[in-house]
Amino acid sequence: MIEVEGLSHHYPGSGAAALRDLTFTVGAGEVFGFLGPSGAGKSTTQKILTGLIKPYSGRARVLGRELREQGPEYYERIGVGFELPNHFMKLTALENLRFFASFYRATADPRELLAKVGLEEHADSRVDTFSKGMKMRLCFVRAVLHDPQVLFLDEPTSGLDPVNARLLKDLVLEEKARGKTVFLTTHNMHDAAELCDQVAFLVDGEIKRTGSPKELGAQAAGSRRLTVEYEDGSVTGSRDFPLDSLGEDQEFLKLLRGRRLVSVHSQEPSLEDVFAEATGRRLT
Ligand SMILES: Nc1ncnc2c1ncn2[C@@H]1O[C@H](COP(=O)(O)OP(=O)(O)OP(=O)(O)O)[C@@H](O)[C@H]1O
Ligand SMILES: [Mg+2]
Repeated sequence: MIEVEGLSHHYPGSGAAALRDLTFTVGAGEVFGFLGPSGAGKSTTQKILTGLIKPYSGRARVLGRELREQGPEYYERIGVGFELPNHFMKLTALENLRFFASFYRATADPRELLAKVGLEEHADSRVDTFSKGMKMRLCFVRAVLHDPQVLFLDEPTSGLDPVNARLLKDLVLEEKARGKTVFLTTHNMHDAAELCDQVAFLVDGEIKRTGSPKELGAQAAGSRRLTVEYEDGSVTGSRDFPLDSLGEDQEFLKLLRGRRLVSVHSQEPSLEDVFAEATGRRLT
């Protein structure tokens, strides 16, 4: 669905290139997560893939056609959720949707879509009275109005409370269940681990690692650890050991023989640990 090879972009007049030699592919029905800290180039990538930024070098194909060659019908086939909700604030939710619906050949019933994201009672309220979560839900509805095959969502859960974030994640999973392909950007590792089949770690415009959250976790061997709590006089002591060399770890064996243990826990690396190990950077 998405094939990117050697994609680079340099904003005119700026110093370093925003994107350098990106290569990745997204298969049909996959949720692909672009993960990286602020300024990594996530939104720039989405803007190129959605045709908002025209100049780029390398190859970027969506739905089998190079972006440069896509015509207006491209927008019938993709849906775009922007980083910042950019609605018409003085119009109501329904008026916003009707306006955007007028660009497409066919759309679902805006009222039904609003009901799906819990906004049915606010259909006739002006968007400037909406909370951030409500605006993001409206943003999602706008992106799926015409039932596109490929969805691009820039930070769909950013700044949302847990209830709204859950709702948005369920909507993404629902699109996936309907066979849609989703490209999303985020700097939230938990969301990425939950939603994505594949993720790419992006730092300073470069992809440092690509894989499924599970594969990437397995590669971060150094982060697999065992935490042992033991009695130490009247208090409880705690030590961490690398999981992989436990049998030869003299400190661990000494602890095992000489102390009364309180608890033993193995810790799988989080995607956050993996990111730090692969890129030398933390996301937050
Ligand atoms: N219009 C622009 N003109 C010049 N430089 C830009 C422009 N937009 C973005 N940049 C630069 O390109 C780089 C990538 O920005 P981008 O917005 O793609 O990052 P991001 O990963 O989406 O960050 P965030 O998590 O903050 O949204 C940054 O160094 C940014 O300053
Ligand atoms: Mg961004």
